[in-house]
Amino acid sequence: MTSDTEHGKILVVDDEPLVRRSISKRLTKAGHECIEAGDAKEVIDLIRDGQPRLVILDIKMPGKSGTDLLPEILESFPGTAVIMATAIVDPHIIVDCMRNGAQDYIMKPFDLEYMTQIVGKVLEKQKLEQDIQEFQESLLTQVENQKKEIQKLFLNSIESLVFALEAKDKYTAGHSRRVAEIAVAIAQKMNLSGDELDNIRLGALLHDTGKIAIDYNIINKAERLTEDEYRHVMAHASIGAGIVKPIVSQDILNIILFHHGYYNGEGFDQDLKGDDIPLGARILAVADSYDAMTSDRPYRAALSSEKGIEEINRCSGTQFDPDVVAAFNIVLSHEI
Ligand SMILES: [Fe+2]
Repeated sequence: MTSDTEHGKILVVDDEPLVRRSISKRLTKAGHECIEAGDAKEVIDLIRDGQPRLVILDIKMPGKSGTDLLPEILESFPGTAVIMATAIVDPHIIVDCMRNGAQDYIMKPFDLEYMTQIVGKVLEKQKLEQDIQEFQESLLTQVENQKKEIQKLFLNSIESLVFALEAKDKYTAGHSRRVAEIAVAIAQKMNLSGDELDNIRLGALLHDTGKIAIDYNIINKAERLTEDEYRHVMAHASIGAGIVKPIVSQDILNIILFHHGYYNGEGFDQDLKGDDIPLGARILAVADSYDAMTSDRPYRAALSSEKGIEEINRCSGTQFDPDVVAAFNIVLSHEI
């Protein structure tokens, strides 16, 4: 008796009924279930309906030959194993069939015992290949799930870091999360997706991380800042990028680094201008400024939403990218 892995439904294709029957009889005795086809026409339907694991395919048949049928079978049913059966002793035909995907061949007149062994080996190999494929697929699923889990933990830890930073200052509590929401909405309106969207979300959450190193009294000073104080505060962009550098990509670092850049290039200490400023940073600049203007600060009360939008539009083309402002206007028009 053969092992379970060697059993399976087999389609025997041969135009000679006696040959089909003798093959089926021997294979049934070995524990296989056999179905039969007398010509090429019924083979595809029989495979579709019967789903055999293996086809024993006669090469020489009236009408379509086994060699012509082989690629059709493998294209429509790629998991099916095919063993060619032939009385023609032409090595070229056999080699062609093997190159086209046949698993093995048997010669007529058949040695039924040998044929049964070949069938068992081919089915065993097929089972092994299926097991490997299933294992690879389950590994890929596991890796994908773990990747999602790691990303979730990473995002949670970033949010905890931002929450801790903002908790010490009632004026900025929730700022980064609100900025991230607005920035992502603008980015979606500008048809960004996938990694670009994720980068903007993370860049927005982390954009003020560097304020941990800035003098709290200067950040919350009610009077106008001196030039040195302004320089000190503005250093938060590069300090923040330096803090999160080990955990985020260069694209996210650029968003953090350039989020105070002016579109016309005339912002504080900046080299880039226009579209050379990363798009994520141009989006963040609008979202960040709008949220800052519409929140209470030590030196002034919050502006209304309408005033904030007005101010953003007033600075379109100078401080802000006009395309980003246009997307911002659409996003905010749905909110107020
Ligand atoms: Fe900032």
